[in-house]
Amino acid sequence: MPHTTLITGASSGIGLELARVAARHGDDIILVARSRPKLEILASELKKAHGVKVHIIEKDLSLPSASKEVFTEVSALWLTVNHLINNAGFGDFWKFSLTDWDKEGQMIDLNIKSLTHMTKLFLPSMIEGKYGRIMNLASTAAFQPGPGMAVYFATKAYVLSFSEAISEELLSTWVTVTALCPGPTESGFAAVSHMDSSKLFQWRKLPTSREVAEYGYHAMMQGQVVAVHGWMNLILTEFVRFTPRFLIRKIVWSMQKKA
Ligand SMILES: NC(=O)c1ccc[n+]([C@@H]2O[C@H](COP(=O)([O-])OP(=O)(O)OC[C@H]3O[C@@H](n4cnc5c(N)ncnc54)[C@H](OP(=O)(O)O)[C@@H]3O)[C@@H](O)[C@H]2O)c1
Repeated sequence: MPHTTLITGASSGIGLELARVAARHGDDIILVARSRPKLEILASELKKAHGVKVHIIEKDLSLPSASKEVFTEVSALWLTVNHLINNAGFGDFWKFSLTDWDKEGQMIDLNIKSLTHMTKLFLPSMIEGKYGRIMNLASTAAFQPGPGMAVYFATKAYVLSFSEAISEELLSTWVTVTALCPGPTESGFAAVSHMDSSKLFQWRKLPTSREVAEYGYHAMMQGQVVAVHGWMNLILTEFVRFTPRFLIRKIVWSMQKKA
């Protein structure tokens, strides 16, 4: 019996590539995002290339009842989710005093609330079934405060903390939780988050979403708790631990500024 992998934010970037990797491993797939046409194109590609079953759930996960609706739709299809990948997320670049609250509120609802609720809903059947893999998209942003993207960095710090905490609680089960922490990556993220001309996205050649997805899927299957993609990012996250916080804030702010 193939495993079923549910991926949020599967219409673009890292989520889309995670769907390709999971299908290549023979998983049946549930694709969730708002852009149905993009999900339909991906679904037919995956079915044709790998012969797997693919279901589409069109949903705006920032809405209060959305996670519950996804769970209800999955239950109605008599599917059991074995791998849950909470990938959907976005950021917004500029000073907190000048950014738009509606967008930030949606960001908190998507990056934090929906991710937490999805985990709450799908975890019990994994524990009961004695197998499960959960992967939450954190970021290297999770390791320090982020002037210029204060709310986004804080949401990712939440994701990392939450994922690590529940992974420890689940040690006596067959369910693992992975916080995937990519650094800046080629995807739709920079455009959506107004980061296109930020130094962070310009100072070196970025890894592709495909590379991050290959690494992330493998880390999830291995049950790795914190998975930082790329040796440079790993060094930077370690550097943060041994550097005074006042200095880190200044370095991040200067890195975030537009080129
Ligand atoms: N790219 C980076 O540099 C980077 C670095 C570290 C971490 N990350 C994290 O990686 C994850 C994936 O981002 P990405 O880089 O692949 O960006 P992306 O290409 O912009 O993809 C984001 C995905 O999230 C979906 N999404 C956005 N808002 C949604 C909503 N309200 N409801 C449901 N789905 C929604 C989008 O689909 P629709 O628009 O169709 O809904 C899209 O499929 C995010 O959590 C991001 O924070 C990215």
